[in-house]
Amino acid sequence: MFEREKRGERALLIQPQAPGRDESDSLEEFSELARSAGASVLATLTGRVDRPNPALYIGSGKAEEAKQLCALHDIDLVLVNATLSPVQERNLEKHLQCRVVDRTGLILDIFSQRARSFEGKLQVELAQLKHVATRLVRGWTHLERQRGGSIGLRGPGETQLETDRRLLAERVKVLSRRLEQAERRQAQARRARLRNAVPRIALVGYTNAGKSTLFNALTGAGAYAADQLFATLDPTVRRLDGLDCGDVVLADTVGFVSDLPHELVAAFRSTLSEAREADLLLHVIDAADPLVRERIADVEAVLAEIGAGEIPQVQVFNKIDRVEDAQPRRDAEPGSEVERVFISARDGLGLDLLRQALSARFASHRFVDALRLEPSAGRIRARLFALGAVRSETVDEEGWELQVDLPLAQAGRLAAEFPECAAFDALRAPPPPEDWEPTPERDGLPAAPAG
Ligand code: GTP
Repeated sequence: MFEREKRGERALLIQPQAPGRDESDSLEEFSELARSAGASVLATLTGRVDRPNPALYIGSGKAEEAKQLCALHDIDLVLVNATLSPVQERNLEKHLQCRVVDRTGLILDIFSQRARSFEGKLQVELAQLKHVATRLVRGWTHLERQRGGSIGLRGPGETQLETDRRLLAERVKVLSRRLEQAERRQAQARRARLRNAVPRIALVGYTNAGKSTLFNALTGAGAYAADQLFATLDPTVRRLDGLDCGDVVLADTVGFVSDLPHELVAAFRSTLSEAREADLLLHVIDAADPLVRERIADVEAVLAEIGAGEIPQVQVFNKIDRVEDAQPRRDAEPGSEVERVFISARDGLGLDLLRQALSARFASHRFVDALRLEPSAGRIRARLFALGAVRSETVDEEGWELQVDLPLAQAGRLAAEFPECAAFDALRAPPPPEDWEPTPERDGLPAAPAG
């Protein structure tokens, strides 16, 4: 399923089973997450857990079985698909004599590898530090056998071994402050886009569905640097041009997973605002995933949780190159209004259909406003009249006030053609503030290695 790192830490997966529930899908999903983090899954163990054992989470019999499997397969890392208390994690590590990472730890690890924006990286590091801080009580000395490997230790984990809790708390403070600043700037940029009439689209989807690949395929690599008009503080927001409806703003967001731990939803609130405040969601789906229905439902659940459940969607079934006989196409799901486009972002198949779908969505967007024009702006006034866009006009000694109504795309083109005309400022995103600093200054505190 995954085309990522094949060799990695030798992992044993433990899937606790609630009574009366078939957890085979959960185990399959958890295995994918583990592989996605770079682990090699060598063994799995399922065990009924009626009520979590306060000491080990799983029962002592299962813990014994796990120990044997660890020895048999020379396991480096045990991943448990549950939220473990720090005590349970430590006891299990002591018993199994190898590192134990729970579901939250694994998801944090994946996020730390994938976070791309400045803000996203801060968010993951902060969430990881907080997660680690609760597990620092007695240090890690109970692990006699420390071998190479990094899952769950990536990011701040690596340095926490030699970092005392005071430094950890300071780093949390510094990061929180930086994140607050970054979030304020992000919120400003988002508010500016909101004020502007430019439609906003957010890419959402299950982790590994191909959002970033599609983002790059649609916007073109390197577009950001040259893109002053829509320059934002976050490299995951870009202008998407060349559509018949005029320009739109496209934002990439973090990958979703099922049962996203609540602490992570909180940590990612501002990244997820891109989704919540969008006019349209492109829900990217891995069409080759055997659990495609479940993945769609997982993403829907997260969207509902972050308050984006009601935003119109286009479902983008990606990776059709891996589905037998699949061709690019655009249709609606039988019995529902949801539009679907089948594409391969990697091979560039169906991107034209996706662009058509987006153009159709936004074709009806109009720019309706009162424009104040100075006497020197006669040329643009003439153009507006020629386009049939002027509904009414009043004149005074300071110039004209025009009530205009025209397609947004046309207004956007006029804004580009007459950059000196302040009347179209609403169609332009502001440049980044002057004090914007893309890389954090060093602060002498132990830094977490980049994911
Ligand atoms: P997260 O960052 O976890 O949210 O992942 P993502 O949804 O951004 O996925 P990403 O674009 O990183 O792609 C995940 C994997 O799928 C990569 O190995 C891509 O090369 C692969 N991929 C993306 N699109 C396609 C496609 O159309 N066909 C195939 N075969 N692979 C694809």
